[in-house]
Formats: sequence, structure tokens, C-alpha cells
Amino acid sequence: MRLTTLRHSASKPAFASYLLGVLTFFGVAAFAESASDHAKVSGPNACAECHKQEVEAWKSTHHFKTFRDMPRNEGAKAIADRMGVRRIKVESLCLGCHFTVQQKENKPEPIAGISCESCHSASQDWIKVHSGYSGKTAATESKAEAAARWKLADSKGMIRPVSLYRLAKNCYSCHVVPHEDLVNTGGHKAGSAFELVSWSQGEVRHNTWHSKGKENLPASAARKRMLYLVGLGVELETALRAVAKATKRKPYAFLMAQRVDRARKQLAAAGKAAPNVPEIEKIVELAHTAGLKLNNNRSLTTAADSVQALLEKISASYDGTTMSGLDALIPPPAAFKGSARTAAAVK
Ligand code: HEC
Ligand code: HEC
Ligand code: HEC
Ligand code: HEC
Repeated sequence: MRLTTLRHSASKPAFASYLLGVLTFFGVAAFAESASDHAKVSGPNACAECHKQEVEAWKSTHHFKTFRDMPRNEGAKAIADRMGVRRIKVESLCLGCHFTVQQKENKPEPIAGISCESCHSASQDWIKVHSGYSGKTAATESKAEAAARWKLADSKGMIRPVSLYRLAKNCYSCHVVPHEDLVNTGGHKAGSAFELVSWSQGEVRHNTWHSKGKENLPASAARKRMLYLVGLGVELETALRAVAKATKRKPYAFLMAQRVDRARKQLAAAGKAAPNVPEIEKIVELAHTAGLKLNNNRSLTTAADSVQALLEKISASYDGTTMSGLDALIPPPAAFKGSARTAAAVK
């Protein structure tokens, strides 16, 4: 039977104790999950030197506050207990998604919540490059030099707003939890009800650089269409990869299959609304080529890979100006998650 046709109720675990306590308890070891290589993390203070406004915006987000609040969270120990004491694996799992971790004297140490480098990538290889104006100044650097500078920063891993596919994929690397045991046994959520426009334009928004902090404008209409479309596509890709890992007839498999099903339907609607973007319909087609069933890793991963290729193409070759048909599908400002730091608050 297909996973989407079954009903289930996710368990609501009773939570008790402290995440940091749990982390200390498990001892600290290498982790592989995070988008950031912790040996190359500079930490948000390094960014604050030049990006004061962006740091101020970040400070009113859940991503920032979680560093303070998570230790008081009752759920972490319960999850870890249910997982059993599997030192390295469990502990490293938690850290990668919940904190910014920096390598300190051979020991990874959580230094902040989800911070600049959780989204723009660990910076040691690109921090000097991106801000260096090719050894000149903003006024004397040529266009070609600037382009080469950004190309170099990108090649060293920097995730910039212009690389929309990578940006979105990185959000989803935390906001969907592709770990069958963590969900089924640990009782961790399978992920967030994530949507890229509404989740990036509320409290997370920090479009403050170009106005030097005078404004924090929401994304333009065209940019929102791109966020919406690429976000939905990455939702689908990530969920396909998550179902690919499903081996047990338990909540994880059903929840992830539901994500695929919902994303396919939303993308089908987007394809109708923007018929001049033929890639959308193709993505939906590809996502139907693999069955949503257990132990179907190979064909689901192949489908996800083809979806990825089309998303990279969309991200690189469209700018949203021709997709006004999507506007009716995009969540309105009232649906934004939290509120952005306003211009009035920006000094
Ligand atoms: C020495 C000053 C300096 C430091 C430190 C610094 N930046 Fe920047 N950053 C800049 C400058 C200058 C620009 C704009 C360059 C331009 O527009 O050509 C910029 C631009 C950016 C952009 C926008 C890129 C784009 O495509 O428009 C991002 C994202 C960014 N920085 C992230 C970070 C992060 C994350 C850190 C910390 C790890 C950091 N920066 C540290 C000076 C700095
Ligand atoms: C793949 C990323 C990922 C991994 C791995 C992960 N988490 Fe989470 N966790 C999240 C996200 C994202 C949320 C927020 C979900 C939401 O939107 O409600 C969350 C939420 C939580 C919450 C609930 C917080 C609250 O107040 O709502 C607890 C507790 C928690 N995680 C503990 C853990 C522990 C303990 C581990 C390791 C055993 C762990 N997490 C591993 C991504 C992850
Ligand atoms: C939750 C992920 C996330 C975190 C954390 C984050 N950023 Fe960003 N950043 C983004 C996204 C997404 C955009 C592009 C938004 C858009 O295009 O609408 C962006 C854009 C930027 C820009 C360009 C802004 C402009 O005016 O064009 C800069 C500079 C930047 N970030 C720096 C930082 C710094 C410094 C930090 C840490 C204080 C940080 N970011 C934390 C996701 C993040
Ligand atoms: C390194 C993992 C990680 C990355 C990357 C990440 N997030 Fe998060 N995010 C979390 C976790 C964990 C929470 C829950 C924090 C808490 O409240 O304790 C969260 C919470 C949020 C919230 C607050 C949700 C609420 O309940 O109000 C928003 C909004 C959000 N994330 C948006 C984004 C966006 C947009 C991106 C990408 C541009 C992103 N996140 C990237 C881990 C991550």
C-alpha cells in the first residue's frame, strides 16, 4: 500500500530536561550533518565587525534566542533518552541542526544558536575574499574584478542570496529531519511546516545591507515568486530524499510521504499558474516516477536528483519577472513567521 493512503497519529512525547546538559552528557564529537564545517566557522562576532545591522536583526529571531532557551527546553533529554545512549551519533545529530559549532582546541563547541554561517556557510575560506574588493575599494574595483571576487567566494562555499537553490536547500537541511530513528524512536518532529516566502520574510528578514540599515524591505514581487517556486521545489526534493530513507511502516515514512504528496500538488498548481515555466510541470512528472513506498531508495533518489537538476536550472535562469501567475499562490504578509525588524527600529 502507498504510504500516503494511510493515516497515523504522531506521538506527542513528554519532554524533560536540558539540551546542553544532554550534549555535555553525550560528550562532544565530530558531526557530519551541518551545512557548516565547524573547523571553518568564524562565529557571528566576526561578521558583526562589518554587518552590525544584520546582527541586530538576527538577535530578535528564534535562531538567536534558541541558544539561551534550548537549555531550558524540556524535550531534549527525553528525545535523547528514547534514542538510547549512542554517544557520537546522537550528540552530533543534535548539534548540527540546533547550534553554530566552532572547533576549539580539537573540541567542537556550541558558540551560538543558528547564526550567520548556518545559512551563509562556514566562512574561514571566503570571509576575506567576499569583503576585500579585490584589494581595491568599492569605487576602484572594476565590474570584472567584482564578478571574479564573487565567483571565488562562491567557489569557497559562500552561500549568497543570488544562489537561491543553495540557500533554500540549506534551510531545508535543518527544517526537514531525514532521520528515521530520531523521529520514530526519539519522537522528534519530522520537520517544520516550512515555506520559504513566509519563513524568510518575517523575523528572519535582514535586507539591511544596501540601505545601510535605513530599510529592511521585504523581497520584491519577482524575488518572492522565485523564493516561492524554488522553495516548493526544494521541499519536494528534500521530502523525496527523506522517503528514500524510509524502511519502517511508522510515522516517519507517512509524514515524509505526505510532504511529497502535498508538494507535488502545490507544484502542479504552480505549473498551471505559470505555464511559461515548463520546468515546473516536468518536475511534477519526475516526482511521480518513483513510488512512495518503503525501501525504495534507488528510484526515489534518482527522482530527487532529476528534480534537483531542474531546480538548479530554474534558480540560475529565471528572475521571477515572468511568473506573475504565481502571485495568487504566495502567502501574504499576514502569514509571515514573526515580524521583521522594522525600519523604525533600525538606526
Ligand atoms: C571586513 C568587513 C566584513 C566582514 C568581517 C564580513 N563582511 Fe560580509 N560583506 C562585506 C562587504 C563590504 C560586502 C559587500 C560587498 C559588495 O557589495 O561588493 C559584504 C556582503 C555580504 C553578503 C551579501 C553578498 C551578496 O551577494 O550581496 C553576505 C551574505 C555577507 N556579506 C555575509 C557575511 C558573513 C556571514 C560574515 C561573517 C562570517 C561576513 N559577511 C563578514 C564586508 C564584511
Ligand atoms: C535535521 C535537523 C535536526 C536534527 C538532527 C535535530 N533537530 Fe531538533 N529540531 C530541528 C528543527 C528544525 C526544530 C524546529 C521544528 C519546528 O519548526 O517546530 C527542532 C525542534 C526540536 C525541539 C523542540 C523545540 C521546541 O521548543 O519546539 C527539541 C526539544 C529538539 N529539536 C531536540 C533535538 C535533539 C535532542 C536532537 C538530537 C537527538 C535534535 N533535536 C536533532 C532540527 C533538528
Ligand atoms: C536563517 C538563515 C540566515 C541567517 C541566520 C542569516 N542570514 Fe543573511 N540572508 C539569508 C537570506 C535568506 C538572505 C536573502 C534574503 C532575500 O533574498 O530575500 C540573506 C541576505 C543577507 C545579506 C544581503 C542583505 C541585503 O541587504 O541584500 C547579508 C549582508 C547577510 N544576509 C548577512 C548575514 C549576517 C551577517 C548574518 C548573521 C548576523 C546573517 N546574514 C544571518 C539567510 C540568513
Ligand atoms: C542549522 C539549522 C537551521 C538552518 C540552516 C535554518 N534553520 Fe530555521 N530553525 C532551526 C531551528 C532548530 C529552529 C527552532 C529554534 C527554536 O525555536 O528553538 C528554527 C526556527 C526557525 C524559524 C522560527 C519558527 C517559529 O516557530 O516561529 C524561522 C522563521 C526559520 N527557522 C526560518 C528559516 C529560514 C528561512 C532558513 C533558511 C534561510 C532557516 N530557517 C535555516 C534550524 C535551522
